[in-house]
Amino acid sequence: MKSNKELQIAYVLAIILLVVGVLSYSAFSAKTPDQPVRLMFKCVAGKVLFDHKTHTAESGYSISCSDCHHNLEEGETKPQACGECHEAKSQDEDMPNRSDAFHSQCIDCHKEGGAGPEKCASCHVM
Ligand code: HEC
Ligand code: HEC
Ligand code: HEC
Ligand code: HEC
Repeated sequence: MKSNKELQIAYVLAIILLVVGVLSYSAFSAKTPDQPVRLMFKCVAGKVLFDHKTHTAESGYSISCSDCHHNLEEGETKPQACGECHEAKSQDEDMPNRSDAFHSQCIDCHKEGGAGPEKCASCHVM
């Protein structure tokens, strides 16, 4: 049998944990962004990291979602993954293959903007 004192301490601890849990849960969910913060693409040439934060208004660059998610409707925030349309080997000649779609979009913008990696090994870092 536990003493009353021990039970009281246990209750107080349980309540504190509950409050802390609720507070951190709400703080966390309030900050959950619309887009995954960081993505990692695995491929034969080495892994590529992509960070949404450095690529959106938060970074001070005026890049809009639809500059990359090129079929995103105005006001929409849930784009499809590129690979939903750009297959590894496209059957349609107007539709770039997955890796061409990435390479031309990523590298062209880095060249135009004079910022961001252009060389193979500076993107395929791992
Ligand atoms: C510089 C290009 C770029 C910009 C700007 C950008 N994204 Fe993305 N986003 C990507 C890439 C690349 C992926 C990975 C797609 C894949 O895995 O096929 C992605 C993935 C996503 C996904 C996950 C899609 C899925 O189902 O896998 C969401 C959601 C998303 N972006 C939302 C946004 C929103 C909202 C904005 C604007 C605030 C934005 N993105 C701006 C390039 C960009
Ligand atoms: C809903 C289908 C769909 C999704 C999702 C999609 N694309 Fe495309 N993409 C197309 C189609 C269709 C074309 C060819 C016709 C055109 O240009 O619209 C294309 C063309 C392109 C081109 C070449 C056209 C140009 O502007 O030079 C690039 C590069 C490209 N997509 C990159 C991407 C990237 C990167 C993503 C993900 C961030 C993506 N696409 C998501 C359907 C899609
Ligand atoms: C519309 C223009 C644009 C597109 C498209 C774009 N980038 Fe960038 N990227 C930038 C700019 C601008 C910077 C410089 C950001 C900085 O250093 O502040 C950058 C920086 C980077 C960096 C270095 C900084 C970091 O986040 O670690 C990486 C890696 C990168 N981009 C990867 C990619 C990949 C992968 C893609 C394609 C999926 C892509 N980018 C598409 C504009 C673009
Ligand atoms: C701006 C970033 C960036 C640069 C620079 C870059 N790549 Fe990539 N590469 C990517 C991304 C993103 C993918 C797509 C990964 C995926 O399919 O998930 C990719 C895919 C690939 C693939 C896989 C193709 C396939 O069909 O599976 C190869 C191989 C490759 N890159 C080689 C290269 C070489 C060689 C260079 C230099 C000439 C280069 N890359 C430069 C980002 C980059």
